[in-house]
Amino acid sequence: MKGKVCVFGSFNLDIVAVMSRFPMPGESLTAQHSMMGPGGKGANQATAALRAGARVHYIGKVGNDDFGTFARRHLEKTGFDAITLFTCKEKPTGNALIYVAGNDAENMISVYPGANTTVTAAEVTRCQPTVAAADILLVQLENNLSAIQRMIDNARAGGTFVILNPAPWQRVSDTLLAKVDLLTPNSTEAMQLTGVSVTDFASAQKAAAVLHRKGARQVIITLGMAGALLSTEQQQLRIPLFPAQPLDTTGAGDAFNGALAARLASGDDLPQAALFASAFASLCVERSGAANSMPSYAEALTRLQAHPECVPEPLAVCV
Ligand code: RIB
Repeated sequence: MKGKVCVFGSFNLDIVAVMSRFPMPGESLTAQHSMMGPGGKGANQATAALRAGARVHYIGKVGNDDFGTFARRHLEKTGFDAITLFTCKEKPTGNALIYVAGNDAENMISVYPGANTTVTAAEVTRCQPTVAAADILLVQLENNLSAIQRMIDNARAGGTFVILNPAPWQRVSDTLLAKVDLLTPNSTEAMQLTGVSVTDFASAQKAAAVLHRKGARQVIITLGMAGALLSTEQQQLRIPLFPAQPLDTTGAGDAFNGALAARLASGDDLPQAALFASAFASLCVERSGAANSMPSYAEALTRLQAHPECVPEPLAVCV
């Protein structure tokens, strides 16, 4: 591993409203605070991987509009090794409307994916050398599935390790799951993938067993305040959550996935990488915004070292 991560995924313009509580249907409620900034699960995860120490090539697609110009300017100054940003003439740049509310800074998001879902076969082919040159390809489900599948096929052909963060959920075949080296659903996505209602570690273990039977060899199910379950056919571990003062949970899953990819690309084993990713995500929730809320490698290392009690714990394997 040379520490090279390729992230193919969405760019969205995020419009965030911080509320004392979520509005009810039909209600207009004054926001306490509002902001606009870069987001999209792909761009957020690419930023997280970069901040966690990887050399990153980001691949995405935006509209031929002002938000697309904003995206290009933002991405060009982020510090990626390279970006491949396609432009769609027919659909606008993706956007997301985000409410943040409550003591635990929970969020509700509506995404209009726009140009993110128009990536063509020819565009995927142009990215083939980039994907093959990376140690890890990290993808989500905020683009058209046809392009995601082709990117994964190209990664496999080039011997690149594939992480699929199945967010936001869309139906995927077992054939696709079997092509992925590491699958990282949250509890809701794990339920949607397996039909098992995931509410705690025991139910997460059952969902992971179903995912293994579907062909997913390594799975991390993130469980919000409970931490995460790491499950392979050989071991099941509880990855702890690090103590944090949540301000905005938007992008926490992206922080986890980007940092996980960065640490795996640098040679960490899966439990080490997952623990670092948990520490990294605990810092992200203490800041507002998505892509702009990613901490640095040094900050995450400090948090990791400040909590020696936070270690992966073995669980009895559930099959
Ligand atoms: O995961 C958070 C992201 O989801 C936001 O940035 C928003 O754009 C949506 O894609």
